[in-house]
Amino acid sequence: MLIDQTLAGRTILLVITGGIAAYKTPDLVRRMRERGARVRVIMTRGATGFITPLTLGAVSGEPVFTELWDRDVEQDIGHIRLAREADMVLVAPATADFMAKMAHGLADDLASTVMLATTAPVMMAPAMNPKMWQHPATRRNLETLRGDGVMIIGPEIGEMAETGESGAGRMSEPMDIAMAVEAFFAPDRSAGPLAGRHVLITAGPTHEPIDPVRYIANRSSGKQGYALAGAAYAAGARVTLISGPTGLDAPTGVDRVSVQTANDMLTATQKALPADVAIFAAAVADWRVAAASSEKLKKNGSGERPALTLTENPDILKTIATGSNRPARIMGFAAETQDIEKHGRDKLTRKGADYIVANNVTPPEGEIVGGVMGGDANMITLITADGAEPWPTMSKTDVAARLIARLAHDLNA
Ligand code: C5P
Repeated sequence: MLIDQTLAGRTILLVITGGIAAYKTPDLVRRMRERGARVRVIMTRGATGFITPLTLGAVSGEPVFTELWDRDVEQDIGHIRLAREADMVLVAPATADFMAKMAHGLADDLASTVMLATTAPVMMAPAMNPKMWQHPATRRNLETLRGDGVMIIGPEIGEMAETGESGAGRMSEPMDIAMAVEAFFAPDRSAGPLAGRHVLITAGPTHEPIDPVRYIANRSSGKQGYALAGAAYAAGARVTLISGPTGLDAPTGVDRVSVQTANDMLTATQKALPADVAIFAAAVADWRVAAASSEKLKKNGSGERPALTLTENPDILKTIATGSNRPARIMGFAAETQDIEKHGRDKLTRKGADYIVANNVTPPEGEIVGGVMGGDANMITLITADGAEPWPTMSKTDVAARLIARLAHDLNA
C-alpha cells in the first residue's frame, strides 16, 4: 500500500546510543524513509556494540558517522554541518547515560557534540532498565531535558530484553516513534480535506449496570473508533468522540465525552449535533437491565438466583439517521460472525446509514475471544448503496485513514 509522504523533504538525524533497543533502529529508519524522510545516522561507540554501522548504512542509504575526529568525514561534513542540516534530531534509543550527558551539556564524542551544536528540535526515545528509569537522577535529568524543550516519547511498560524484568523502560515501537516524528511535522490542518467540518464519533463498549458494582459489557476495545477520531482530526475536522469505558487516551486535539450506558451515549450524541459526519463505531449493548438495583445484590445462602429482566436499548445510529438534525454522511459498523455482507446490507437500509463497515469478528480458530475484537488489525467490507467492497487486512490505523479519506471525498464531491 502507498504510504503518505508526510516526511518528504525532511532530514532526520538519528542518534543511536548504546542500548539493546538499538537492534530496532533499522526498522525505525525504514519507517521514516518510507514516509519520504532522508535519514542520517550517528552512532555512539556503545551503539556499535549492539548493531553495526554497516547495517545502518545499508538501510539508510547514507554513510554512518561514529567518530568525532574521523578525518574524511570531518573535512567533508563536520559535526556543525551535520547538526545544522537536520530538521530534527532523534535520539533512539536514548540511554540513561546519554540523557545525563545531554542534561549537563557534556560533549566528548560526535553524538553529544552534535546535540550541543544543533538548533533543530530534539526528540528522545528513552530505553533502559526500569530501575534506572525510576532513579531520582534520571528523573532529574528528564525534567532538565524537558525544560530544554526536548520531546520525549515513551518509554513503554514491558519486559526487558536482558533480564525478563518488567516495568517502564522499553523503547517505544519504531512505528510509534515514526508516527510521533510525523505528527511533529504534520501539515497544516486548515488545508486538510475535512477542515471546517464537525465529525462525531461513538466508540468503545457501553456498560449497563446490574447493581452498583456489576454491569453487562462487551469486548470492544474502542481502538477502531479512536483511530478514526485521530484520522478525522488529522484531516482537519473538529472531532467529538463520545466514548464508552476504554483504557485508551483521547487522540490529541479530539474533544472526548466519556459515557457509561447506551442511554447516556444517545444523550451525548444528540447534544453534540449538528455534525457533518457521524461515525457509529461503538459496540452499544443491545439490552440493559430493566430495573438496575441501587443496592448490591446479595447471596443469602438459600441458593436463590437473581433473575435479570432485560429491556432493549435505543438504537443510537438509527435515532440520529432518522432524526431531524441528520448529518450529511452517516457511517455505521456491523460486527458479524456469519453472512457478513448480507447482514451489512440489511443494516444499511434498516438503520438509514450511508455506509456500513462490516467486519468479521469471528475469533481465531479454537478460541472464544480474540481476533478483530480488541486486536490491532481489521478486515472490513465497505457497504454502500452502490455495492460491497471487500478491503484487504490492514491495521486499524490504516483502515481509519482510508475510511476518513473516503468520507472526505464523498462529502466534498
Ligand atoms: O445492530 P447492530 O448492533 O449490529 O448495529 C451496529 C451499528 O449500529 C454500529 O454502528 C453501532 O454503533 C450502531 N448501534 C447503535 N446503537 C445501538 C446498537 C447499535 O448506534 N443500540
